[in-house]
Amino acid sequence: MIEFEHVSKQYSQDAYALKDVSLSIGAGELIFLAGPSGAGKSTLLKMIAGIEKPTAGQVKVNGQDISKLKSSSLPYLRRKLGLILQDQKLLTDRHVLANVMLPIIVTGASQAEAETRARIALEKVGLPDKAYSMPLALSGGEQQRVAIARAIVNRPQIILADEPTAFLDRDNANKVLGALKAFQSAGVTCIISSHDEQFLDQASRVIYLSQGKVVETWKSSLAA
Ligand SMILES: Nc1ncnc2c1ncn2[C@@H]1O[C@H](COP(=O)(O)OP(=O)(O)OP(=O)(O)O)[C@@H](O)[C@H]1O
Ligand SMILES: [Mg+2]
Repeated sequence: MIEFEHVSKQYSQDAYALKDVSLSIGAGELIFLAGPSGAGKSTLLKMIAGIEKPTAGQVKVNGQDISKLKSSSLPYLRRKLGLILQDQKLLTDRHVLANVMLPIIVTGASQAEAETRARIALEKVGLPDKAYSMPLALSGGEQQRVAIARAIVNRPQIILADEPTAFLDRDNANKVLGALKAFQSAGVTCIISSHDEQFLDQASRVIYLSQGKVVETWKSSLAA
């Protein structure tokens, strides 16, 4: 479903964010992307979404070479993806429900349909009672779960989550991870970057990056 073929990303002369990465991720996997700060985790996720382009090699999603996509085709790719990125905050000037409805509205759906689907998404992340709360009145963990609801309202095939449990306590981190695992159980491919080692053994596969290279991958013995 996702293929990296000898992918490198060079931001400047001697600064590689990724170096000759080849990997293959199948439908329905729950991948944990591990590795120290600066290893290239965010870069790898952004490449799957076509936000960053490789300087060498190919990234394919559903057989399609991302860097050959016309910019007019990118929205179609993005609709298959649920993105939970580090720098995509909720809009603080409107309530939770409006935030979650937004990605549906931009596809041209009616307000009524958007509201119905947004409420279902909020239920899936365990926040049906927070629809009319303002984002800043929520805890960090609740905000992160709203971000997940917003990412999944268009029923993506793939969820990309960059450090979704950073800054959360264990209880909230567990709820966030539980929500993501529930989507994986429903057949959605999930790729999650994290420093949080306690979660590594819950993944179907761990990919460990260091200095832009895949240094290790292993299958968890605990995951189903
Ligand atoms: N836009 C950019 N311009 C120049 N260098 C960049 C850019 N984005 C990332 N880098 C560099 O690429 C390398 C990989 O960065 P990346 O953000 O992918 O790491 P990361 O594994 O996500 O780190 P963290 O765990 O801190 O989020 C780093 O050395 C970083 O400084
Ligand atoms: Mg990062």
